[in-house]
Amino acid sequence: GTLVLATTAPLVIAPAMNQQMFASKVVQSNLSLLQSRGAQILGPASGAQACGDVGPGRMLEAKEIIDLLQAQAANERIDLRALRGKVVVITAGPTYEDLDPVRYLGNRSSGKMGFAIAQAAAAAGAEVSLIAGPCALATPAGVARIDVRDARSMHAQALSAAPTADLFIAAAAVADYRPAHQSLQKIKKSSDETQITLVKNPDIIADVSAAVHGKAKRPLLVGFAAETETVLENARAKRVRKGLDFIAANHVGPGLGMEAEGNALVLIGADSELELGYANKSLLAKRLLQALIPHLLGSRQNQSTETLPSP
Ligand code: PMT
Repeated sequence: GTLVLATTAPLVIAPAMNQQMFASKVVQSNLSLLQSRGAQILGPASGAQACGDVGPGRMLEAKEIIDLLQAQAANERIDLRALRGKVVVITAGPTYEDLDPVRYLGNRSSGKMGFAIAQAAAAAGAEVSLIAGPCALATPAGVARIDVRDARSMHAQALSAAPTADLFIAAAAVADYRPAHQSLQKIKKSSDETQITLVKNPDIIADVSAAVHGKAKRPLLVGFAAETETVLENARAKRVRKGLDFIAANHVGPGLGMEAEGNALVLIGADSELELGYANKSLLAKRLLQALIPHLLGSRQNQSTETLPSP
């Protein structure tokens, strides 16, 4: 207590106590009083407690506290105001490729990365369209969400929205293949082994790139590359192959990339590679947008299109 009186640093409190204690009037009014004096309260989390009770009072995980504080510290330096009025189109989440009325091929993408970018851009005043595959996330404030299910519908929405955009970011994990035949009835169990024939889906961002190539005004094109090995090499090749200005390479694995709260990104351009570091997705989204802003401001028509592959 006396130590706190002697500091000029911001005060952050992470309560760690029994649920009954936390609910008590004394604790609640003390927390309010501290808040009214400028202290910030982080948490508590809710769940099983050391004493056997269940409820709110658990301290947030140390990593969550660090992530939250890091995000705040960085927020003070990250200035996304240049995005005000810019038209930003983002794809996010997985695609589901239906086999029959009850089954589909999907992947583990949660949509968190793309939604975090949408949220950060909209909060900065951008006009954001979020083309989202099936995911259970709330739509960030101020974002126009377009729900799609499969790659072909995401493709159609992306091609219609991208030409008028200033920035197009493809964070979706799109299925590369879909079942060749979609059965109208539930497929019956028959032999011990069965096969599904798959056909290639359209490459959304590559088609967007081809569609806007050479246009007087075209969006800055940014893809993602989720890789489990030789991350940078694969990402560099993907950037060139798909005709992108930038690609954000992320190493996916346990606790990293898909589904997870955190991610680690390297932003690769034609002649630059920028380490955006490991952080929670909301902070990474801001770092990514900040890194893209200088490339957004100029007129797009004079920029090199060297990344576009020959057809
Ligand atoms: O959704 P989260 O749980 O938060 O996870 C985030 C993420 C790991 C899914 C995201 O950060 C990410 O990396 N997304 C791209 C996933 C991926 O594996 O992409 P890819 O290597 O298949 O494709 C490369 C790029 O082309 C991506 O920008 C992708 O959106 C795009 N693409 C791919 C295939 C296709 N048919 N059309 C596309 O536009």
